[in-house]
Amino acid sequence: MDHVLHLEKLPRTVELQRDGDGRTCFAYVDQRKLPTDLVFERTDVWRAVVEAIKTLAVRGAPAIGVAGAAAVALWASNGGASAATAHGCAEASGQFAGELAAVADEVAAARPTAVNLAWGVRRVVDVAQAHLAEGALPGEVADALFDEVKRMEAEDEAVNRAIGAHGAQLLRPSSRVLTHCNAGSLATAFFGTALGVVYAAAAKGKIARVYADETRPVGQGARLTVWELARAGVPCTLICDNMAASLMAKGEVDAVIVGADRIAANGDVANKIGTYGVAVLAHHHGIPFYVAAPTSTIDATLADGSGIPIEERSPAEVLPHPMPGVEVWNPAFDVTPAALVTRVITEKGVFEPSKLVY
Ligand code: MRU
Repeated sequence: MDHVLHLEKLPRTVELQRDGDGRTCFAYVDQRKLPTDLVFERTDVWRAVVEAIKTLAVRGAPAIGVAGAAAVALWASNGGASAATAHGCAEASGQFAGELAAVADEVAAARPTAVNLAWGVRRVVDVAQAHLAEGALPGEVADALFDEVKRMEAEDEAVNRAIGAHGAQLLRPSSRVLTHCNAGSLATAFFGTALGVVYAAAAKGKIARVYADETRPVGQGARLTVWELARAGVPCTLICDNMAASLMAKGEVDAVIVGADRIAANGDVANKIGTYGVAVLAHHHGIPFYVAAPTSTIDATLADGSGIPIEERSPAEVLPHPMPGVEVWNPAFDVTPAALVTRVITEKGVFEPSKLVY
């Protein structure tokens, strides 16, 4: 039987906007405040967007791809273009292009692992360079960047819905799905990747329940995944990370579906720390392990996962009150070998990890 979902209760995670007075603003859900408060922030300062990405106010690979592009567009609209235009016409474009490159580098460096961030920034830089090459003025380039970011927001949702439709076909009716971290609507402009598959499958009555790992140390599963699933009307159960093995051993999990931050050409997958362990458990218990991600997450320049930069975050995330003599290791991501990945689901279809099409 089809299941009634309430996706209209999920917020738009990231959105570039224009004020009444024509100023460009970036609106986002501050994910640090969930699940207790749903707070929308707005800024017209590009460095505030960089800060939001670094502090995980905006997080999740596709969402930071859009946010990174939006940061560059904010710079261009709210200062970059007018500062450059204050000089002569020919000089203006040269100065604009130089500053654009520096801004783009700073935005792309905000977080290292999710390739979507550099991809999003590259996409608007390419648009800017193409317009400048045709003789466009900085103000015209700024408008083109605004339009490009709006296209990226819409494309992200369309891509996620396509991932959802492909992935839903892999699940049997009344499936019990386990997920790790948050690869949901909150991690994208809208709809989600791994949870996009869940939403598409739930609409067809294929989801009995989603088990969400709490995802230590930042708690994306505990704070974000169960919040959005409950809001959307999908039955969900929160478990501590160390309970997944027992749940699988009891035969309670039919499939694992996770997102990705970067997929190497051979199908090795970087995702939130702990994903690798879940993949090992799924393999041991004969449970399919699916990775749902847009093709913008594939980094074809890397032959395998050994070259994926892994972000290390503050020890305070693991140990809020430091103890003398205790060191903390806090990698934010790990790499799951392609051999443990049953299929990769992208907007282009369902692939064996070693035969990705992008
Ligand atoms: O550190 P985060 O919260 O940005 O990590 C996010 C993840 O690892 C997600 O699983 C990944 O970005 C895919 S989101 C569709």
